[in-house]
Amino acid sequence: MDKAVELRSGIIMPVLEGDGLEVLAFALDVEPDIVGATGFCLNDEERRRAAGLRLERDRRRFVVARGQLRRVLASRLRIAPSVVEFEYGALGKPQLSHRMPARDLRFSVSRSKDVAVVALSTAQEVGVDIEAVVPVPEADEIATLCFSASEYGSYTGLGPEGRLEGFFRCWTQLEAVSKALGCGLGQPISWDEEDWLVRRFVPRSGYIGSVVIRNWRSRDVTTH
Ligand SMILES: CC(C)(COP(=O)(O)OP(=O)(O)OC[C@H]1O[C@@H](n2cnc3c(N)ncnc32)[C@H](O)[C@@H]1OP(=O)(O)O)[C@@H](O)C(=O)NCCC(=O)NCCS
Repeated sequence: MDKAVELRSGIIMPVLEGDGLEVLAFALDVEPDIVGATGFCLNDEERRRAAGLRLERDRRRFVVARGQLRRVLASRLRIAPSVVEFEYGALGKPQLSHRMPARDLRFSVSRSKDVAVVALSTAQEVGVDIEAVVPVPEADEIATLCFSASEYGSYTGLGPEGRLEGFFRCWTQLEAVSKALGCGLGQPISWDEEDWLVRRFVPRSGYIGSVVIRNWRSRDVTTH
């Protein structure tokens, strides 16, 4: 597995770069003053969404994730974080509003427990997913329902010691493609592995992440 990054409170860390994409990670369980400073740039709608979350921990994690996302995008767009505007796809996929400069900057966000990542790509659709590697008693049933034949074959071919990590590798890859496509929860997706460039990373020890972008080179090969 790749080397894990050491995340420090309030600091956005690069975890992967290359092939036209970048992944940045940060911790969500941070001190109250950092939550306040990070969440300062949220708009009214985001504040309402945070206020609607029942648990204080979830409110804090949402505020930090959205605040850091705004900071990352703002630094790329050279504007203030509070000025970043989003639009949402039919199933909730966020993207930069058409009023933003450099609208071809694509991003995807994932959160799991106290870690979040933002993946960035220019001009190509990107999807990212991270998961904390914890025991999943129903992993085999999920694999039967959700994995493609080849994913299922690789998963069931793993020995007991690699099974859990193998499950999360496939799962995060599937979720990353779903997120690149802007699909909704439980929507079956059909995807061709050749169409996507998949990179894996470890945003923190005990987590697994997959990030995908469209692999246009595979199209070039098949259409010429
Ligand atoms: C909505 C969904 C994308 C959220 O994923 P998740 O693993 O629960 O949560 P993550 O933290 O990884 O992602 C959440 C982020 O994804 C983004 N997001 C929300 N809806 C999205 C969509 N339709 N497409 C892409 N990204 C989306 C948002 O940035 C969100 O962050 P926010 O909550 O801070 O606003 C996911 O639940 C989903 O629908 N996946 C579809 C795939 C699927 O159903 N697989 C099972 C097949 S059997």
